[in-house]
Amino acid sequence: MRCSGDSAAPLPSRFGGESGANGKQTNPLNRARQQAVVGLALLVPAVLSAAGNPAAGKALFEGKGGCLNCHSIDGHGGSVGPELDKIGLMRSQELLRLALVDPSAEVYKEYLTVVVTTKRGQKVEGVALNEDDLSVQIRDAQGNPRSFLKDDLRSVRRENRSLMPSAAGKMSATELDDVIAHLHRLRGPAPPIGPRTREPHRAYSEIGFLDRIGRDEEERPDTLVNSLEIRAGATVAEIGSGTGYFTWRLARAVGNSGKVYAVDIAQDRLDRTAASVAKHASGNVQTVLGAESDPHLPEGALDLVFIGNAYHEFSNPEAVLAAIKRSLKADGRLVIVEYAEGYSFSERDRSPRMSIDQIRSEIEAAGFEIDRVLEGARLLHTVTFTKAGN
Ligand code: HEC
Repeated sequence: MRCSGDSAAPLPSRFGGESGANGKQTNPLNRARQQAVVGLALLVPAVLSAAGNPAAGKALFEGKGGCLNCHSIDGHGGSVGPELDKIGLMRSQELLRLALVDPSAEVYKEYLTVVVTTKRGQKVEGVALNEDDLSVQIRDAQGNPRSFLKDDLRSVRRENRSLMPSAAGKMSATELDDVIAHLHRLRGPAPPIGPRTREPHRAYSEIGFLDRIGRDEEERPDTLVNSLEIRAGATVAEIGSGTGYFTWRLARAVGNSGKVYAVDIAQDRLDRTAASVAKHASGNVQTVLGAESDPHLPEGALDLVFIGNAYHEFSNPEAVLAAIKRSLKADGRLVIVEYAEGYSFSERDRSPRMSIDQIRSEIEAAGFEIDRVLEGARLLHTVTFTKAGN
């Protein structure tokens, strides 16, 4: 007997489900509730959660909140739910609130609740561990691994809900803010910051590669740009616009009241950018011919600088980053999208890949601070930064 429902592989990769921007399955039954919670979250917490007390939240997390029964931090705690070492980088405060108040609203596929019913009528709930021809293994809500012979079972179901109990009604508003403040600070160890060890690649992607069939499926550009939550009217620059693949999507995001500067160091690329913008978006894009060490952008003017699969090709990244820092407004963001390590397009593919730590150490060394790691397509790392010392 196989698990029924959509439970093909017992332990799919964490990034396997091509679902929401944060990689999770959205439970349709809960969408209305989720919107209600997000609505609330948007109305109230900006002020409240800023007031949350992270030390009190930590005490609650480790003590009466019972969170360590199921979650681990720095290798300590349970493993029913995901490790939370870097959760503050992975989730906004609104998503953290949603995870606590309505855990079933969005659940990773591998954490959907498995319900095992034996022929004698005993029911056990847990998360999937393993399945073979003869048996099923789950981890129950107390953290114990449990193994069942399929011959002894009446059914195995995977249900679209979380094993995590909701904090709603259990925690006061203040306690909730405190726990969120604590989770928001969990960012894992910072990578060593130092001079760059990587040699600049000095390559230039071929047009055929940039326009390849299947790129949308691989990179999910619409999800990516949506997940940046760019406000209408924003001023954005894209450095390395290439064939305009991301440019027109950014142009749509800022709308007619916004502006996009599309920078490249080759005029033929800028012509291609302009052509794809003309096809898909309106006239709010200005192309800018940049130099290898200077993107030629206005100072103190930008809400966001976007670099999509181009940073590893910069021949003088330090100079470009210094110029970006000058051109961003005080609260501006820098977005780096890079192909993830371990992913190769073909046998001949020798272009460099960067790990999140490598991206962090180079960008942070230039006077930026990590803000978020956005989940999206599995072959890309998307990391956002703000200016350090804000
Ligand atoms: C009975 C086990 C259990 C307990 C107790 C528990 N959790 Fe969870 N938690 C889970 C599981 C399973 C998931 C993954 C499914 C989901 O997203 O709800 C999860 C998910 C989460 C997530 C979302 C993680 C992500 O990657 O988005 C956060 C944040 C979280 N828990 C925080 C907490 C906090 C804080 C507490 C204590 C107040 C707590 N949990 C208590 C089982 C538990």
